[in-house]
Formats: sequence, C-alpha cells, structure tokens
Amino acid sequence: MEHISVMLETTVSMLNITGDGIYVDGTLGRAGHSSEILKRLTTGHLYSFDIDQQAIDESREKLERINNNFTLIKANYADMQDELNSRSIYQVDGVLLDIGVSSPQFDDPDRGFSYRYDSRLDMRMDQSQSLDAYKVVNEYSYSDLVRILYRYGEEPFAKQIARKIEARRLQKPIETTGELVEVIKSALPERVKSKAGHPAKQTFQALRIEVNHELENLERGLQGALNLLKPGGRLAVISFHSLEDEIVKQIFKSNSQPPLIDKRIPLRAEEIPEAEFILVNKKPILASNEELSENHRSHSAKLRVIERRKAV
Ligand SMILES: C[S@@+](CC[C@H](N)C(=O)[O-])C[C@H]1O[C@@H](n2cnc3c(N)ncnc32)[C@H](O)[C@@H]1O
Repeated sequence: MEHISVMLETTVSMLNITGDGIYVDGTLGRAGHSSEILKRLTTGHLYSFDIDQQAIDESREKLERINNNFTLIKANYADMQDELNSRSIYQVDGVLLDIGVSSPQFDDPDRGFSYRYDSRLDMRMDQSQSLDAYKVVNEYSYSDLVRILYRYGEEPFAKQIARKIEARRLQKPIETTGELVEVIKSALPERVKSKAGHPAKQTFQALRIEVNHELENLERGLQGALNLLKPGGRLAVISFHSLEDEIVKQIFKSNSQPPLIDKRIPLRAEEIPEAEFILVNKKPILASNEELSENHRSHSAKLRVIERRKAV
C-alpha cells in the first residue's frame, strides 16, 4: 500500500519553514514530508535520513522532480548530529521525526513485520543489521523475552507467551510470523483471544521495538536534534504509541523547564535563567476528523513541537 503521510500540512507548517533554511527529516520513508519541506526551499537545504535503503532508493526521483536542494543519508537518525557535523553542518532551522514503520515496510510480506502474512520472522528496518526477529524469538532467554514483551508490548500474558515460545523452539526453531502467531494463540486464554484486536499485536510490537532499538534511537535522536537547533529553530515529532509519546513528552518537558536555582540566592527578575526551549503546543496535536476518516494510521498519531528560545 502507498504510504499516506500523517498530519502532513500541519507538521510542515509548524516547522515555520524559510526558503534559505537548513532542515532535517530524520525519517524519510516515501518522502511525503520531505517533499513538502523541499517545495518551500529556495537556497536552503534538506538533509533526509532513513536506515532503510529501499526508502532512500525510492524517494530520490520524487525529490529530484522538485529541486536538488537535498541530501539523502542512509543512517540512523540517532546519529544525526555526528552525520551532519561530518558535513560541516552544526546548526539547523528545523527537524522532523515521523517515527515508526512505513506502509511499504509493513505491507511487504518479505519484511516480516505483519501478522497478516505468513513470512520469515524479520522486522528489520535496516536490512544490513544482523539482529532480526528470528534471532530474538529463537535465541533470547526466557527472562529477556518476558522483559521485552512486558516493557515494549505491555503484554499482560508475557510470561505465558515466553514459556510457550521456549517450549516450541526446543522442538524446532520458530521460523515464520504464522508459526509465531500460533504459539502466541496457544498461550492466551479464550476470553483474551475473542476480544477485539489481533491477539499477536502486542507481541509483534514488542519484537519490532527490540529488533530496531526504537526507543533508544528515539531518545538519542531527540537529544541530537535539540542540540542542533538554532535559536528559533523547531523540532516536530509524530509518535504512534504511548511508549514513544511518553519519551517525547518527558524530554520536551525537561528541556522546557528553567534550571533549578537556589531560592536563597538573591537575583533580579532579568537575572533568573530561562529554559532553553519552549513548548509550542502544551497538548499534543491530533489528526483532524477528515484525516482520521481517510488514513487509519493517523488514529494513534500525536504531534509535539518544541522551539529553541530566540536569543534576546
Ligand atoms: C513512518 S515512516 C516516515 C514516512 C514519511 N514521513 C513520509 O511521509 O513518507 C518512518 C520511516 O523512518 C525510518 N526509520 C525508522 N527508524 C529510523 C531511524 N532510527 N533512523 C532512520 N530512519 C528510521 C523507517 O525506515 C521508515 O522509512
């Protein structure tokens, strides 16, 4: 399925793009957001990252049809600061992160992200890395499986599922998404299986997060992006589940609070230090009703934006 970009207009307009600015799209995907940013640039430049070579290959032509003010970088957005510094870029006007899996990744049976197809357990966004879902399922210890299923899947039956995985792989490795779904179903009580939603959803989410180090990348990527922002520069982040949004919320909160100072130190009002960053929106922005009816991916999307305080 074609990737429909989430909150496209809103996100790009929140970045306050200027034609001569330098922008970073940490999650190129199929260049939906990158295209909109590029259209607004005159002498400026866009650096777009993706760890998936297919995303890079399939976006290039689309962007070239707009203009050539862009550079595609096959790298983890968590490393954006080093990657940009190595290209002599030390400050940028705006950064966008639209995290998670793209529709082409999810809908390609060969990538093994979905329980809708029976395919080899893979789930790597970066197909050159060695850790994949097969290794996690067949090689992680019982306690590590329980940990990731609880933490990344918020799966209440983590122990039961991990125990069944352990028992099954003693007979033969669990090779496909279909085999894993069967194992998960065998671990869940009937009342849970008959509830709405796929019974393997939470386990698959947990595996995907583990395989792609998604939460660690998000933390490092946010820090790198904040370090790069110029005064007045903005970081916009679209997240898709509560674990991601909680990280964005906490990092934005801690950076938008003034440093703690000892109340006994006498300071004039103008001497009281201000926070380096300002929250552009206190509450996350959600997709409009119109978008909700057109794009099911937008249902869980939350957009948060932060700005580096302008120098006075
Ligand atoms: C939701 S899609 C982005 C869609 C894009 N905004 C668009 O409109 O077409 C997320 C993309 O980010 C990439 N990605 C996920 N984690 C990444 C990371 N840590 N570093 C670089 N790219 C990443 C995925 O491979 C995927 O292509």
